Amino acid sequence: MESDTKKAEKNWKHSLLYLTFIITIIHLTHQTNFSRKLIIGNETVRIKKTSDLPLRFRSDGTFKILQVADMHYGNGMVTRCKDVLASEFEFCSDLNTTRFLKRIIQAESPDFIAFTGDNIYGPSSSDAAESLFQAFGPAMESRLPWAAILGNHDPESSMNREELMSLISLMDYSVSQINPSADCLADSAKGCTPSKIDGFGNYNLRVYGAPGSMLANSSVLNLLFLDSGDRVVYQGIRTYDWIKDSQLHWLRHVSQEPQGQEQDPPQSTDHDTTPITPPALAFFHIPIPEVRHLFYKQIVGQFQEGVACSRVNSPVLPTLVSMGDVKAVFIGHDHINDFCGILDGIWFCYGGGFGYHAYGKAGWPRRARIILAELEKGRNYWTRVQRITTWKRLDDERLSKIDEQILWDQLFSR
Ligand SMILES: *[C@@H]1O[C@H](CO)[C@@H](O)[C@H](O)[C@H]1NC(C)=O
Ligand SMILES: *[C@@H]1O[C@H](CO)[C@@H](O)[C@H](O)[C@H]1NC(C)=O
Ligand SMILES: *[C@@H]1O[C@H](CO)[C@@H](O)[C@H](O)[C@H]1NC(C)=O
Repeated sequence: MESDTKKAEKNWKHSLLYLTFIITIIHLTHQTNFSRKLIIGNETVRIKKTSDLPLRFRSDGTFKILQVADMHYGNGMVTRCKDVLASEFEFCSDLNTTRFLKRIIQAESPDFIAFTGDNIYGPSSSDAAESLFQAFGPAMESRLPWAAILGNHDPESSMNREELMSLISLMDYSVSQINPSADCLADSAKGCTPSKIDGFGNYNLRVYGAPGSMLANSSVLNLLFLDSGDRVVYQGIRTYDWIKDSQLHWLRHVSQEPQGQEQDPPQSTDHDTTPITPPALAFFHIPIPEVRHLFYKQIVGQFQEGVACSRVNSPVLPTLVSMGDVKAVFIGHDHINDFCGILDGIWFCYGGGFGYHAYGKAGWPRRARIILAELEKGRNYWTRVQRITTWKRLDDERLSKIDEQILWDQLFSR
């Protein structure tokens, strides 16, 4: 064990060197407008491949998100599956998680992938950087923009939360960020955000309207990512972390920010283009305590295990309710819960366990959640978001589609 830790540390030092190197190169290319490939000595150095930003709806008026919860990636081929049928165990490893990710990307062609934490499983990973590259490999190969936040298991290997989020933000096609930008932090006088925000991986991404439409240069959907933290000891008791006041303060701020260059329509009698606050979707790893109440309510999907939340109930739910724009929250952490239920008008949906090295339930297929936002059609062009729906896909032979439901429809929310 001792030597393993040492080895991991050494590997990590190499990764850090590599990272510093990449950052230097990125700086260099920005300043000198070099070609995308640099030759240093005889080695070709790769530079981060970037996604086109802002994210935007397709010209068919849709934007589809794939939520991947709890991949629990370890060391790849040598990391065995948990909770699969005895007949499946022999030929099952992390590579099955990779295979599922490739299959679902191909089957659903999402526009964006959101990884909601426990992407890697620290105790089974001898080099966090290596595990991250393997875990996110199919996302990078797909060239789709993707974003990740951390769970409680990601930092249990050779990198801490800050190091993990910086590496994740530098990976190909990643649009993940470590925290709100420095501009915003410096602007705390305007109530932008407190000078220090708790955690790593608090950021928002705006999705712009369809190309060529009146809202092509405006945000019509807001994606909010939050770091729900680690395991902690609170008042002498081991529990999970919680979303802190500094994060909630930042959240309230971003929901009030202007949404890009809103254009007044030529004859502004057309209500389709009046600026309204776009709907928002939030993503974090650990469920809030109120999710337990859904056991007694009507839900879509399955509630098969206790909600592993913090003992501390920070005001996440009242904050989201008061913001008004958040229509649904997507969480992970509990792998064999995969339901959606409503709390104070906001849907809370589990992704359902995705990874094969994550605990699960033998015979209950690994799964992923899809979220589809559709725009409203104006007279001749797409306008704002009309409807948000969700469903899940199982990692069975046919990638069965289940539990399709509407999360939000503009018509019923006026
Ligand atoms: C670089 O490549 C060239 C041509 O392939 C070779 O002649 C040279 O020895 C190499 N240099 C080093 C430092 O490897
Ligand atoms: C894991 O992948 C192998 C081949 O890549 C396949 O034969 C096996 O059925 C998969 N197991 C599960 C549980 O999906
Ligand atoms: C959006 O921006 C582009 C590029 O600046 C511009 O050509 C286009 O007219 C703008 N569209 C709208 C609806 O403002």
